Amino acid sequence: MRRWLTLLVAATTSLVLIALLVPLALLVRTVAVSGAVSEAESEAESVAIVVGAVDTETLRLTAEQAEHPVTVFLPGGEVIGDPAPRSTAVELASRGRSVTAAAPGGREILVAVQGAPGGTAVVRVFLDDGRLTRGVPQVWAGLAALGLALVGLGVLVGDRLARAVIRPIRALAGVSHRLAAGDLSARTVPDGPPEVRAVGVALNHLAERITGLLAEERESAADLSHRLRTPLTGLRLEAESLADPEESARIEARVDALERAVTSVITEARRRVRERAECDAAAVTGARVAFWSVLAEDQSRHFTLDLAPGPLPVGVAADDLAACVDALLGNVFAHTPEGVPFSVRLEAAGGGALLTVADAGPGFATPDPSQRGESGAGSTGLGLDIARRTAESAGGSLSLGASPEGGASVVLFLPVVTS
Ligand SMILES: Nc1ncnc2c1ncn2[C@@H]1O[C@H](COP(=O)(O)OP(=O)(O)OP(=O)(O)O)[C@@H](O)[C@H]1O
Ligand SMILES: [Mg+2]
Repeated sequence: MRRWLTLLVAATTSLVLIALLVPLALLVRTVAVSGAVSEAESEAESVAIVVGAVDTETLRLTAEQAEHPVTVFLPGGEVIGDPAPRSTAVELASRGRSVTAAAPGGREILVAVQGAPGGTAVVRVFLDDGRLTRGVPQVWAGLAALGLALVGLGVLVGDRLARAVIRPIRALAGVSHRLAAGDLSARTVPDGPPEVRAVGVALNHLAERITGLLAEERESAADLSHRLRTPLTGLRLEAESLADPEESARIEARVDALERAVTSVITEARRRVRERAECDAAAVTGARVAFWSVLAEDQSRHFTLDLAPGPLPVGVAADDLAACVDALLGNVFAHTPEGVPFSVRLEAAGGGALLTVADAGPGFATPDPSQRGESGAGSTGLGLDIARRTAESAGGSLSLGASPEGGASVVLFLPVVTS
């Protein structure tokens, strides 16, 4: 844009200068020519006055002393002064008509002198091209230099102007990129021309609006989660009223766990900014597999756990990693028949941890089952997307594939905390 503006200014200035300087240059030339011609004419007149009044010798001396080459054609055919051919213009002048005519290498000024003894004499003053346009090349060079200087000045001013416009636009682009990267505190100081300032104000307004909408969304997510408390209370009362104290305690413990999960969902949803988190992947994975092992036993599923010795720090909050492991193991239990074995492996890899959950079930039926909201089993279709987003928020990744037994295999790469 800066180059375009500078080019535009250069083109406009050049056009204006051409429109002004070219006629001016032509005018200068015309004035110079007419000045030289009238000077030569007055010289011819001054010689013409003495023709017939003085003798031939004095006339020759007068002609020789003149500033320009002067020739006097006497009526008898005698030529005095600078030798010159008797051109048609001289013939015309000898009939009594003073003329100015083009001659090779310049112009001849011819003054007819009537009343000379023996007929009409002609005084010829020759003006060569150099005298005709004396001083014109210098004036033209001056005008060209002035033109170039003015174009240069225009370009300089245009460049300054362009920079003043571009600087705030670049700042706006920077703020937009920061907002796009999730930094909702990014704001711009409106600067530059009024239109660009208006865009800055609008961008700040947009950022405020996005922040507000996100806050509203978080609050409504918290409100929705809060609704789970009522059925939970009912469940707790049911559990307390169970006849078997052992069963009652077991179910109450599950209700407690569910309540803690709901509380953490509400707290998480209301948290304004996700601070940088870290946890020991080995400890979290081990704990979640231990939780699921009870259900695995109930469903007669054989499983293997291959945990790298901890601590294995990764850049994800413990709750988030636990939710990921739950989503992957939950899928095994939800989408493979009872009795199907599975394996969980956690190893250190590439500056982080690699978690692989594989099973010997039917495998993934669709090419991209991690599409959010799409479930092949009539559920909410969020589990794999939650795991993928958790990994990506920490700079990691999730990949889906097939296990050696032909079932599903999900690999989650979680890097360590970077800064
Ligand atoms: N271990 C698996 N074996 C076979 N298919 C699977 C397995 N895990 C996931 N899938 C398929 O991938 C789809 C998406 O899984 P995802 O966890 O994202 O959603 P969901 O389990 O259907 O719903 P939600 O997890 O929200 O309850 C599942 O519907 C299922 O078809
Ligand atoms: Mg699922």
